[in-house]
Amino acid sequence: MSSTDARTSVTAPAVRARKVASGAEPLVMLTAYDAPGARIADDAGVDLILVGDSVAMVVLGYDDTLSVSVADIAHHVGAVARAKPRPLIVADLPWMSYHTSVDEAVNNAATLVRAGAQAVKLEGGRKRLRVVEAIVDAEIPVMGHLGLTPQSMHAMGGFKVQGRTSEAALALVADAKALAHSGCFAIVLEGVPDAVARMVTAAVDVPTIGIGAGPHCDGQVLVFHDVLGLEDRVAPKFVRRYADLKADAVDAVARYADDVRGGHFPADGESYHLAAGVAETLGLYGGPVRR
Ligand code: KIV
Repeated sequence: MSSTDARTSVTAPAVRARKVASGAEPLVMLTAYDAPGARIADDAGVDLILVGDSVAMVVLGYDDTLSVSVADIAHHVGAVARAKPRPLIVADLPWMSYHTSVDEAVNNAATLVRAGAQAVKLEGGRKRLRVVEAIVDAEIPVMGHLGLTPQSMHAMGGFKVQGRTSEAALALVADAKALAHSGCFAIVLEGVPDAVARMVTAAVDVPTIGIGAGPHCDGQVLVFHDVLGLEDRVAPKFVRRYADLKADAVDAVARYADDVRGGHFPADGESYHLAAGVAETLGLYGGPVRR
Protein backbone atom coordinates (compact mmCIF):
# COMPACT_ATOMS: atom_id res chain seq x y z
CA MET A 1 0.00 0.00 0.00
CA SER A 2 1.13 3.57 -0.66
CA SER A 3 1.83 5.78 2.33
CA THR A 4 -1.18 7.93 1.28
CA ASP A 5 -4.30 7.48 3.45
CA ALA A 6 -6.20 4.64 1.77
CA ARG A 7 -9.57 6.43 2.21
CA THR A 8 -8.53 9.72 0.57
CA SER A 9 -9.19 9.96 -3.15
CA VAL A 10 -6.18 10.98 -5.21
CA THR A 11 -6.64 14.33 -6.99
CA ALA A 12 -4.93 15.91 -9.99
CA PRO A 13 -3.41 18.75 -7.88
CA ALA A 14 -2.02 16.15 -5.45
CA VAL A 15 -0.45 14.27 -8.36
CA ARG A 16 0.95 17.50 -9.81
CA ALA A 17 2.88 18.10 -6.55
CA ARG A 18 4.61 14.68 -6.65
CA LYS A 19 8.15 15.46 -7.87
CA VAL A 20 10.69 12.93 -6.64
CA ALA A 21 13.34 15.69 -6.61
CA SER A 22 11.23 17.45 -3.97
CA GLY A 23 11.17 14.34 -1.80
CA ALA A 24 7.94 12.75 -3.06
CA GLU A 25 7.44 8.99 -3.34
CA PRO A 26 7.32 7.83 -7.01
CA LEU A 27 3.83 7.71 -8.51
CA VAL A 28 2.34 4.36 -9.45
CA MET A 29 -0.05 4.23 -12.41
CA LEU A 30 -1.66 1.09 -13.81
CA THR A 31 -4.14 0.70 -16.62
CA ALA A 32 -7.56 -0.81 -15.87
CA TYR A 33 -10.55 -1.22 -18.15
CA ASP A 34 -13.33 -2.59 -15.94
CA ALA A 35 -14.63 -2.69 -12.38
CA PRO A 36 -12.70 -5.79 -11.22
CA GLY A 37 -9.47 -4.31 -12.60
CA ALA A 38 -10.17 -1.00 -10.84
CA ARG A 39 -10.78 -2.84 -7.53
CA ILE A 40 -7.49 -4.73 -7.91
CA ALA A 41 -5.60 -1.49 -8.63
CA ASP A 42 -7.32 0.24 -5.71
CA ASP A 43 -6.75 -2.59 -3.22
CA ALA A 44 -3.08 -2.73 -4.28
CA GLY A 45 -2.70 0.98 -3.48
CA VAL A 46 -1.85 2.45 -6.90
CA ASP A 47 -2.12 6.24 -7.26
CA LEU A 48 -3.63 6.54 -10.74
CA ILE A 49 -5.75 4.29 -12.95
CA LEU A 50 -5.35 4.89 -16.67
CA VAL A 51 -8.24 3.79 -18.84
CA GLY A 52 -5.83 3.64 -21.75
CA ASP A 53 -6.51 3.23 -25.43
CA SER A 54 -4.34 0.11 -24.97
CA VAL A 55 -7.78 -1.43 -24.26
CA ALA A 56 -7.88 -1.78 -28.07
CA MET A 57 -4.98 -4.24 -28.04
CA VAL A 58 -5.20 -6.05 -24.70
CA VAL A 59 -8.99 -6.36 -24.41
CA LEU A 60 -10.64 -5.76 -27.77
CA GLY A 61 -8.24 -7.75 -29.95
CA TYR A 62 -7.02 -5.01 -32.31
CA ASP A 63 -3.38 -4.85 -33.50
CA ASP A 64 -2.98 -1.19 -32.58
CA THR A 65 -4.75 1.58 -30.65
CA LEU A 66 -6.21 3.39 -33.65
CA SER A 67 -9.57 1.61 -33.80
CA VAL A 68 -11.10 2.71 -30.51
CA SER A 69 -13.56 5.60 -30.30
CA VAL A 70 -14.57 8.02 -27.57
CA ALA A 71 -17.66 5.84 -27.00
CA ASP A 72 -15.44 2.76 -26.48
CA ILE A 73 -13.25 4.55 -23.93
CA ALA A 74 -16.32 6.04 -22.18
CA HIS A 75 -17.81 2.54 -21.87
CA HIS A 76 -14.68 1.30 -20.07
CA VAL A 77 -14.33 4.49 -17.99
CA GLY A 78 -17.89 3.97 -16.73
CA ALA A 79 -17.06 0.42 -15.62
CA VAL A 80 -13.93 1.60 -13.79
CA ALA A 81 -15.73 4.54 -12.17
CA ARG A 82 -18.58 2.36 -10.87
CA ALA A 83 -16.00 0.59 -8.68
CA LYS A 84 -15.50 4.01 -6.98
CA PRO A 85 -11.72 3.54 -6.73
CA ARG A 86 -9.50 5.81 -4.64
CA PRO A 87 -6.87 6.30 -7.42
CA LEU A 88 -7.31 9.19 -9.85
CA ILE A 89 -9.11 7.96 -12.99
CA VAL A 90 -7.37 9.21 -16.15
CA ALA A 91 -8.99 8.45 -19.52
CA ASP A 92 -7.20 8.39 -22.86
CA LEU A 93 -8.55 10.64 -25.57
CA PRO A 94 -8.36 8.24 -28.52
CA TRP A 95 -6.92 8.96 -31.95
CA MET A 96 -8.93 11.52 -33.98
CA SER A 97 -10.86 12.71 -30.91
CA TYR A 98 -8.67 15.83 -30.49
CA HIS A 99 -7.03 16.22 -33.91
CA THR A 100 -9.73 17.91 -35.98
CA SER A 101 -10.86 20.86 -33.85
CA VAL A 102 -10.37 22.36 -30.42
CA ASP A 103 -14.14 22.39 -29.75
CA GLU A 104 -14.44 18.73 -30.63
CA ALA A 105 -11.53 17.94 -28.33
CA VAL A 106 -13.15 19.77 -25.40
CA ASN A 107 -16.50 18.06 -26.02
CA ASN A 108 -14.84 14.64 -26.21
CA ALA A 109 -12.93 15.29 -22.99
CA ALA A 110 -16.25 16.28 -21.37
CA THR A 111 -17.84 13.02 -22.57
CA LEU A 112 -15.11 11.08 -20.77
CA VAL A 113 -15.52 13.15 -17.60
CA ARG A 114 -19.29 12.56 -17.68
CA ALA A 115 -18.52 8.83 -17.95
CA GLY A 116 -16.47 9.06 -14.73
CA ALA A 117 -12.95 10.21 -15.66
CA GLN A 118 -11.26 12.78 -13.45
CA ALA A 119 -8.61 13.72 -16.01
CA VAL A 120 -7.80 13.00 -19.66
CA LYS A 121 -4.55 12.09 -21.40
CA LEU A 122 -3.58 13.04 -24.93
CA GLU A 123 -0.51 12.38 -27.07
CA GLY A 124 1.81 14.95 -28.61
CA GLY A 125 3.84 18.01 -27.72
CA ARG A 126 3.91 21.58 -29.00
CA LYS A 127 1.41 20.96 -31.80
CA ARG A 128 -1.24 20.06 -29.20
CA LEU A 129 -0.92 23.15 -26.99
CA ARG A 130 -4.14 24.86 -28.14
CA VAL A 131 -6.09 21.71 -27.38
CA VAL A 132 -4.42 21.25 -23.98
CA GLU A 133 -5.13 24.86 -23.02
CA ALA A 134 -8.78 24.65 -24.10
CA ILE A 135 -9.41 21.45 -22.14
CA VAL A 136 -7.66 22.88 -19.08
CA ASP A 137 -9.79 26.04 -19.52
CA ALA A 138 -12.84 23.78 -19.33
CA GLU A 139 -11.59 22.74 -15.86
CA ILE A 140 -10.54 19.26 -16.97
CA PRO A 141 -7.05 18.18 -15.84
CA VAL A 142 -4.85 17.08 -18.75
CA MET A 143 -1.98 14.57 -18.71
CA GLY A 144 0.49 14.83 -21.61
CA HIS A 145 2.15 11.89 -23.38
CA LEU A 146 5.48 12.21 -25.22
CA GLY A 147 8.05 9.94 -26.85
CA LEU A 148 6.76 6.75 -28.43
CA THR A 149 3.17 7.85 -28.92
CA PRO A 150 1.29 4.81 -30.28
CA GLN A 151 -1.39 6.92 -32.00
CA SER A 152 1.44 8.21 -34.29
CA MET A 153 2.65 4.69 -35.19
CA HIS A 154 2.30 5.25 -38.94
CA ALA A 155 3.97 8.67 -38.83
CA MET A 156 6.81 7.24 -36.67
CA GLY A 157 7.22 4.19 -38.94
CA GLY A 158 6.25 1.74 -36.21
CA PHE A 159 6.59 1.37 -32.45
CA LYS A 160 10.11 2.81 -32.19
CA VAL A 161 12.08 4.26 -29.28
CA GLN A 162 12.12 8.07 -29.66
CA GLY A 163 14.61 10.80 -28.67
CA ARG A 164 17.77 8.90 -29.65
CA THR A 165 19.52 11.87 -31.35
CA SER A 166 20.54 15.05 -29.53
CA GLU A 167 18.06 17.07 -31.65
CA ALA A 168 15.23 14.67 -30.86
CA ALA A 169 16.13 14.66 -27.15
CA LEU A 170 16.12 18.47 -27.02
CA ALA A 171 12.81 18.53 -28.90
CA LEU A 172 11.32 16.26 -26.22
CA VAL A 173 12.55 18.60 -23.49
CA ALA A 174 11.00 21.57 -25.34
CA ASP A 175 7.72 19.66 -25.82
CA ALA A 176 7.59 18.72 -22.13
CA LYS A 177 8.26 22.30 -21.00
CA ALA A 178 5.54 23.58 -23.34
CA LEU A 179 3.00 21.01 -22.09
CA ALA A 180 3.76 21.84 -18.46
CA HIS A 181 3.48 25.56 -19.24
CA SER A 182 0.12 24.97 -20.93
CA GLY A 183 -1.28 23.38 -17.80
CA CYS A 184 -0.64 19.61 -18.01
CA PHE A 185 -0.52 18.23 -14.46
CA ALA A 186 1.73 15.28 -15.40
CA ILE A 187 3.42 13.87 -18.50
CA VAL A 188 3.80 10.24 -19.60
CA LEU A 189 7.17 9.52 -21.21
CA GLU A 190 7.01 6.38 -23.31
CA GLY A 191 9.82 4.57 -25.11
CA VAL A 192 12.70 7.02 -24.64
CA PRO A 193 16.30 6.43 -23.47
CA ASP A 194 16.71 6.67 -19.70
CA ALA A 195 19.11 9.64 -19.95
CA VAL A 196 16.58 11.58 -22.03
CA ALA A 197 13.80 10.83 -19.53
CA ARG A 198 16.11 12.11 -16.81
CA MET A 199 16.70 15.38 -18.73
CA VAL A 200 12.97 15.86 -19.33
CA THR A 201 12.14 15.07 -15.69
CA ALA A 202 14.68 17.62 -14.47
CA ALA A 203 13.36 20.24 -16.92
CA VAL A 204 9.72 20.31 -15.81
CA ASP A 205 8.04 21.01 -12.49
CA VAL A 206 5.23 18.50 -13.12
CA PRO A 207 5.78 14.77 -12.59
CA THR A 208 6.86 12.54 -15.44
CA ILE A 209 5.47 9.01 -15.50
CA GLY A 210 7.58 6.58 -17.48
CA ILE A 211 6.91 3.44 -19.47
CA GLY A 212 10.02 2.11 -21.17
CA ALA A 213 11.74 5.33 -20.07
CA GLY A 214 14.05 4.09 -17.31
CA PRO A 215 14.11 4.73 -13.57
CA HIS A 216 14.60 8.51 -13.45
CA CYS A 217 10.96 9.52 -13.92
CA ASP A 218 8.67 10.68 -11.10
CA GLY A 219 6.56 7.56 -11.50
CA GLN A 220 5.95 4.48 -13.63
CA VAL A 221 2.99 3.12 -15.57
CA LEU A 222 2.42 -0.38 -16.89
CA VAL A 223 -0.45 -2.14 -18.61
CA PHE A 224 -2.63 -4.31 -16.32
CA HIS A 225 -2.48 -7.38 -18.58
CA ASP A 226 1.34 -7.17 -18.81
CA VAL A 227 1.89 -6.85 -15.04
CA LEU A 228 -0.36 -9.82 -14.35
CA GLY A 229 0.81 -11.99 -17.25
CA LEU A 230 -2.68 -12.07 -18.77
CA GLU A 231 -1.02 -10.98 -22.02
CA ASP A 232 1.62 -13.58 -22.87
CA ARG A 233 2.12 -12.99 -26.60
CA VAL A 234 4.39 -9.94 -26.62
CA ALA A 235 6.86 -9.05 -23.90
CA PRO A 236 8.46 -5.66 -24.52
CA LYS A 237 11.83 -5.17 -22.78
CA PHE A 238 10.38 -2.70 -20.28
CA VAL A 239 7.63 -5.00 -18.96
CA ARG A 240 8.10 -6.77 -15.65
CA ARG A 241 5.56 -9.56 -15.08
CA TYR A 242 4.54 -10.03 -11.45
CA ALA A 243 2.21 -12.98 -12.07
CA ASP A 244 1.39 -15.55 -14.72
CA LEU A 245 -2.39 -15.34 -14.67
CA LYS A 246 -2.85 -16.47 -18.28
CA ALA A 247 -1.20 -19.82 -17.49
CA ASP A 248 -3.08 -20.06 -14.16
CA ALA A 249 -6.37 -19.31 -15.96
CA VAL A 250 -5.77 -21.87 -18.71
CA ASP A 251 -4.94 -24.47 -16.06
CA ALA A 252 -8.08 -23.63 -14.03
CA VAL A 253 -10.39 -23.76 -17.06
CA ALA A 254 -8.81 -27.03 -18.25
CA ARG A 255 -9.46 -28.59 -14.81
CA TYR A 256 -13.09 -27.37 -14.97
CA ALA A 257 -13.47 -28.94 -18.42
CA ASP A 258 -11.98 -32.24 -17.14
CA ASP A 259 -14.38 -32.24 -14.17
CA VAL A 260 -17.41 -31.65 -16.43
CA ARG A 261 -16.34 -34.34 -18.91
CA GLY A 262 -15.51 -36.80 -16.12
CA GLY A 263 -18.84 -36.26 -14.35
CA HIS A 264 -17.14 -34.72 -11.29
CA PHE A 265 -18.83 -31.30 -11.60
CA PRO A 266 -21.23 -30.30 -10.19
CA ALA A 267 -21.07 -32.30 -6.96
CA ASP A 268 -24.00 -32.85 -4.62
CA GLY A 269 -22.94 -29.86 -2.52
CA GLU A 270 -22.93 -27.66 -5.63
CA SER A 271 -26.53 -28.62 -6.59
CA TYR A 272 -29.97 -27.46 -5.37
CA HIS A 273 -32.27 -30.13 -3.95
CA LEU A 274 -36.03 -30.50 -3.69
CA ALA A 275 -37.55 -30.81 -0.22
CA ALA A 276 -38.13 -34.52 0.56
CA GLY A 277 -41.95 -34.13 0.49
CA VAL A 278 -41.96 -32.49 -2.93
CA ALA A 279 -39.59 -35.13 -4.34
CA GLU A 280 -41.87 -37.86 -3.03
CA THR A 281 -44.97 -36.20 -4.52
CA LEU A 282 -43.21 -36.11 -7.86
CA GLY A 283 -42.24 -39.74 -7.51
CA LEU A 284 -38.54 -38.89 -7.39
CA TYR A 285 -35.88 -40.34 -5.19
CA GLY A 286 -33.55 -37.94 -3.40
CA GLY A 287 -29.83 -37.90 -3.80
CA PRO A 288 -27.54 -37.10 -6.65
CA VAL A 289 -28.11 -38.47 -10.15
CA ARG A 290 -25.85 -41.44 -10.73
CA ARG A 291 -24.21 -41.82 -14.13
O1 KIV B 1 -3.03 3.29 -23.37
C1 KIV B 1 -2.12 3.06 -22.56
O2 KIV B 1 -2.06 2.01 -21.91
C2 KIV B 1 -1.08 4.07 -22.42
C3 KIV B 1 0.10 3.72 -21.58
C4 KIV B 1 0.99 2.83 -22.31
C5 KIV B 1 0.80 4.92 -21.07
O3 KIV B 1 -1.18 5.13 -22.96
